[in-house]
Amino acid sequence: MILKKNIPVGLCSDHAGFELKSIIDGYLLSQGIESKDFGTYSADSCDYPDYAHPCALAVENGEVFPAIAICGTGNGIGMTLNKHQGIRAALCWNTEIASLARRHNDANVLVLPARFIAPEVALQIVDVFLSTEFEGGRHQKRIDKIPTH
Ligand code: RB5
Repeated sequence: MILKKNIPVGLCSDHAGFELKSIIDGYLLSQGIESKDFGTYSADSCDYPDYAHPCALAVENGEVFPAIAICGTGNGIGMTLNKHQGIRAALCWNTEIASLARRHNDANVLVLPARFIAPEVALQIVDVFLSTEFEGGRHQKRIDKIPTH
């Protein structure tokens, strides 16, 4: 597990990801994993940056680790998260990509496309993401070159 002691997993979504976020939150609870939910808190239409930015800041300052972010496609919320220098948010739609996002990219946010994956697949992806370590080595120098300042 990549979880850090006494540090919750961050969650954020827009309205399109609200239902899947609730399912994942319940799953984490059932596994004894603490979470911190940055919203949205209903299925009412909203703007993903309003939830992605606070969640990204919380990952950057160590308040949560890792985070799981969800919108309809995963793209809008992922684009927003990746504006933050300390965020490596990876859009994942199967377990192999989730594994590689951890092993090669040391992704600190898992991004899920709620409208394009079944909830059971999403939970499998969450399991893989939370249990796969970064390989370091040649991948470390590559991720060191990602920030623009
Ligand atoms: C909302 O309709 C949808 O545009 C949003 O969830 C996301 O897919 C944007 O990238």
